[in-house]
Amino acid sequence: MGNIRLHDKSFRPFIDNDTIEKAIDKVAARINADYKDSEDIPVLLCVLNGSILFTAELMKRLNFKCEIVCVKLSSYVGTKSTGEVRDIIGMTGSVNGRRVIIVEDIIDSGKTIANLTKMMDSSGATETRICTMLLKPGCYKLDLSIDYVAMEIPDDFIVGFGLDYDGLGRNFKDIYVLDENMRYYILFGPPGAGKGTQAASMAERFNLCHISTGDLLRGEMASGSELGLKAKALIEAGELVPDEIVEGMIERKFDTVEGYSGFLLDGFPRTTAQAEALDKMLAKRETKVTGVVSLMIPDGMIKERIKHRAAIEGRADDASDETISNRIKTYHEKTEPLVEYYKAAGVYNEIDGTGTIEEVRGRVNSLMESL
Ligand code: IMP
Ligand code: MG
Repeated sequence: MGNIRLHDKSFRPFIDNDTIEKAIDKVAARINADYKDSEDIPVLLCVLNGSILFTAELMKRLNFKCEIVCVKLSSYVGTKSTGEVRDIIGMTGSVNGRRVIIVEDIIDSGKTIANLTKMMDSSGATETRICTMLLKPGCYKLDLSIDYVAMEIPDDFIVGFGLDYDGLGRNFKDIYVLDENMRYYILFGPPGAGKGTQAASMAERFNLCHISTGDLLRGEMASGSELGLKAKALIEAGELVPDEIVEGMIERKFDTVEGYSGFLLDGFPRTTAQAEALDKMLAKRETKVTGVVSLMIPDGMIKERIKHRAAIEGRADDASDETISNRIKTYHEKTEPLVEYYKAAGVYNEIDGTGTIEEVRGRVNSLMESL
């Protein structure tokens, strides 16, 4: 089970299906015990849409005669309760003279349940009990007692097993929680492996801020800044720019960028010292590298691809055979040791970088979805 994306947000696994089913078994057993000798036929009030899956799972475990009536209300827009409950469609049947069990997916502020209880009273129900799959005790502040609770959860936004985020996510059999931690991915590989090409589509698909140290430095060089001039001489010789310069540029990005689910680092870290510096920056933010995506191609292909790119982009560091050879040598000596570094950290993932752009993109996407 990996993270899922719905609209603009990422959700991480929270309660697996097995745990949910067991909790429903227990709550159903309590209801069965309470209603086993009933002479009437109680009504289960399914609160649409969220409660569809829970009502179905609960109902098939009940062993007394019961009927179902549905009602649709809504108080949520996006991930926040509006505080106002709207009656979207009325009840699909009568509860007059009946005992009712309201079956809710989740109780948050309790506004929905308070409304429904009133609605049951005015519709002639003789008794109203409340059964919910999930309760957020941290949010629920009403006196109204809730008779049956399958599971209690903290005050976080969740989806799955009937619950949605703006319409999506109801069909997942497990429950996921909103993942607000920033994610830090490293796109790794030798020069010419296709990092830049893949980074653009990865960044878009996974809402990541793409940080290419090469692009940042080329920006500085083009602007003729002091940093740019310093970098220029080194880059044109196929050498690495000093760590402090690159690290400073990266950390400024971490501090200033907004609206993304995370970062995609492309061309950083390039040395073990930079990897250690990155770990420190992330430790300050109480997090770690989420995953390394390593695109691997054989040495022979590196030159071929770089020459092809030089013809298109005219990059200074792609220009001569000598520069290219030096970059490959620098990669093997200084950057490749990071493979072991990230393997030891348990975040290293390698992908075959050969083949068409689309083929590689397919591999990248399925890996990213599993991280
Ligand atoms: P309440 O009226 O504040 O108790 O909210 C109950 C309704 O809000 C539920 O029936 C859901 O439709 C929605 N809701 C509350 N919390 C969540 C959540 O974490 N995920 C998805 N929907 C939620
Ligand atoms: Mg609901």
